[in-house]
Amino acid sequence: MSKIRFLVLGAAAGGGLPQWNCNCANCAAARDPSSGLSPQTQSSLAVSVDGDNWAIFNASPDIRQQIQQTPQLHPKALRQSPIRSIVITNADVDHIGGLLTVREKQPFKLFATSAIEKVLDGNPIFRVLDPDHVTRQTIRLDSDFSPLEGLQVRIFAVPGKVALFLEEGEPELGLEGEQTIGVEFTAGGKRAYYIPGCATLPDWLAERIRGADLVFFDGTLFANDEMVKAGTGAKTGQRMGHMSIDGPDGSLAQLSSLNIGRLVYVHINNTNPIWRNGPERAAVEAAGFAVGCDGMEIELA
Ligand code: MLT
Ligand code: MN
Ligand code: ZN
Repeated sequence: MSKIRFLVLGAAAGGGLPQWNCNCANCAAARDPSSGLSPQTQSSLAVSVDGDNWAIFNASPDIRQQIQQTPQLHPKALRQSPIRSIVITNADVDHIGGLLTVREKQPFKLFATSAIEKVLDGNPIFRVLDPDHVTRQTIRLDSDFSPLEGLQVRIFAVPGKVALFLEEGEPELGLEGEQTIGVEFTAGGKRAYYIPGCATLPDWLAERIRGADLVFFDGTLFANDEMVKAGTGAKTGQRMGHMSIDGPDGSLAQLSSLNIGRLVYVHINNTNPIWRNGPERAAVEAAGFAVGCDGMEIELA
């Protein structure tokens, strides 16, 4: 394998941009075609090595729209799909909701850790994925697997928490286990990562991604207290299991020193000021980092 293509299907975090019940400055702008800020769908990444067969990382509730707006993912025969597999990185609704959309007896492989499979199995609605067509493969931390012919990836635990709808009381934050994973891609001497949810950046994780050619990283909030200050919510980023971009412990400062070739923020919340031109987006761009957007394509060759 010499080339990997990455296609951001959805750059926004859970809720999308605009979020149905939000009229914050970003959401209002995303509803105004003259604002220059286009609506963005919920968190998902497509990956291919040959341009014909695709693996989808996270099944966004917007997957139907994402397929519609991505010609590479359109059926090429009467009943067919270029989507060969779906890999789940955590069990939040923005990453599993789309499984209910792809239920029309189309064969594909579904890769998830046993902790995430347990969540799917605990919700009988996911039985709509007929096992005669959808083959499950349990993936193990720190092990390689192949979601596409010619593509080897490895998953690893990143700090996170259980899915929001599974929280009982105060969840353990910064849990490192099978509930939140990162994905490592290696091909032709290049190394890339997909880490859409990450609560902190411990030294081992910084060392792991140091020198990578490409990293898609959790860009949920710019500031830890951004939702509280904007009056859109009571939770901090930390409580949501997402490290913020700004601040001395933020991802911008920490990732800047890791000699990463290309860094793209994804899973960006609708309240995040980096969606629009301003000092926050300028700070991200000054570090050489990119703000992800739907349809963004990156090829590593
Ligand atoms: C998150 O990433 O924090 C979740 O997607 C929240 C949610 O499920 O709405
Ligand atoms: Mn999410
Ligand atoms: Zn909003």
